[in-house]
Amino acid sequence: MDEIENALFKAATRVRAHAHAPYSGFQVGAAILADDGNIYAGCNVENAAYPIGNCAEASAIAAMLAGGGRKIRRILTLGNGREPVTPCGGCRQRIREFADASVPVICRGVEGGEALHTTLGELLPHSFGPEFLESEI
Ligand code: THU
Repeated sequence: MDEIENALFKAATRVRAHAHAPYSGFQVGAAILADDGNIYAGCNVENAAYPIGNCAEASAIAAMLAGGGRKIRRILTLGNGREPVTPCGGCRQRIREFADASVPVICRGVEGGEALHTTLGELLPHSFGPEFLESEI
């Protein structure tokens, strides 16, 4: 684990402890290294009206934007169990808004299994992103 991955892991571990997940019991932390050099973290926030809950990745992206970061350089997700917890389909697209295909995505389970080191492009191939909307009218 390099120094940045270690810092992302620590931030995700810390923020995961604040997850509001009373319905699923599945606590997730996500941490982003942003283009401003800072690390931004977020946890999942469930709701009694189930469909309006927030994933940890969405919270981390909101923290990044609020803090002044604009682009994702690396992201780590951490959830229950031994298996690496990968971003859900919706969050892959949320990440895509602020990251290109080459951005590393590191996925871990808290119980200490092997991490998955992948990229956004592997998780979301042939994706649609903001540049598709940049063509002149
Ligand atoms: N969850 C995340 O926060 N991120 C993911 O990428 C996978 C799922 C949350 C949503 C819900 O609060 C709980 O995990 C169970 O699905």
